[in-house]
Amino acid sequence: MYKGCLIIYFHKMSQLLCVTPADSPIGEIHHFEILWKGMKMPGLAFLDRQGSWFACINRCKHWAEALDTESPAIYATGTGLVVCSIHGAKFRLEDGLCVTGPCHGSALDVIPVEWREGELWSIK
Ligand code: FES
Repeated sequence: MYKGCLIIYFHKMSQLLCVTPADSPIGEIHHFEILWKGMKMPGLAFLDRQGSWFACINRCKHWAEALDTESPAIYATGTGLVVCSIHGAKFRLEDGLCVTGPCHGSALDVIPVEWREGELWSIK
């Protein structure tokens, strides 16, 4: 009897997240939806002070509320941190880690992205 094996290939597709003009102001929030771990989730993106695009699932790790619920000004250009508008948790951009606040030690779901001529794409 033939004993075969099942090979499953996982193909991680890029997703178009939103249209993002090259001259977007630093920190201006762009909202989108993304298929993330099999679920449709809200996301946000903005241009950081280094001129790179940052994107993450728009859910604070403290109360699972949108980071910009109270205010769209969640990017602190002085520190380069994301600041949750509800209780002020602060997150690093490079890995989403909460460095201070009520959810210290947890991390945002950072979405690797690539800007392609006015469009922001996830690359994972
Ligand atoms: S909901 Fe974000 S810090 Fe409380």
